[in-house]
Amino acid sequence: MAEVVAGVGTSHVPAIGAAIDHGKTGDPYWKPLFVGYERAREWIAEVKPDVVILVYNDHASAFSLEVIPTFAIGVAAEFPPADEGYGPRPVPMVTGHPDLAWYLTESLILDEFDMTICNVLPVDHGLTVPLSIMFGQPEAWPVRVIPLAVNVIQYPPPTGQRCYRLGQAIARAVASYDEDLKVAIFGTGGMSHQLQGERAGLVNPEFDGHFLDRLGPDPESLLSISHADYIRKAGTEGIELVMWFIMRGALAPDVVEVHRHYHVAASNTAAGLIAYENAPTRS
Ligand SMILES: [Fe+2]
Repeated sequence: MAEVVAGVGTSHVPAIGAAIDHGKTGDPYWKPLFVGYERAREWIAEVKPDVVILVYNDHASAFSLEVIPTFAIGVAAEFPPADEGYGPRPVPMVTGHPDLAWYLTESLILDEFDMTICNVLPVDHGLTVPLSIMFGQPEAWPVRVIPLAVNVIQYPPPTGQRCYRLGQAIARAVASYDEDLKVAIFGTGGMSHQLQGERAGLVNPEFDGHFLDRLGPDPESLLSISHADYIRKAGTEGIELVMWFIMRGALAPDVVEVHRHYHVAASNTAAGLIAYENAPTRS
């Protein structure tokens, strides 16, 4: 049977992708950020997932403001890197897992999560930067990927509670899929950041630290943070953190934190990464 075995929460800052693509990861500005990713890369290479369910938000690359799905799932065989204005990132084609993606779609919709089904889905930095953070610059990505896009651009985004429950539904669906597959789930976006307005550049390490401390042992204590409080405390784009609850909800109630990295600043944001495995079950 398939199983969700690991989860990663990570920022998906576009400048991190640009630093990788332009060979700047050893520059004094970027080095401390990338050194902190090394252990996470070693770990994911050991976990060796077959499939990553990658929760991210599209930044007007696949969807415009004309059509805004709250939750969308990619069921295609391939997802091309999107052109975000400077041409597509020089990263490999993202290979999907249509069988599992369709199975998840059916399970989730029948479990009352109304997913938008995407047969065509160009994927932007929201999805490709986390792949680069975790897997570097391979010729081909070493995993198949099921993109799961969440609206955090247009008010109202889904609540943290709803995202957590979607994660739980994903875990149920994966566990009933009749093929031996190791599945990892990435929740991306965040941490605190604000890109525009008078508070542009806002970073709140205290908020981010509390979030990272609670997400593993007591995620439910974070689910009631309101959209207004994310904006107040974590900046207008801090709302992206709700996507981490889909990852956390898909893991077991007890998890082991295997890696954590927090760095300010990456471009004009705080960058965080946290990695979990399900805790061994007690017999
Ligand atoms: Fe984003």
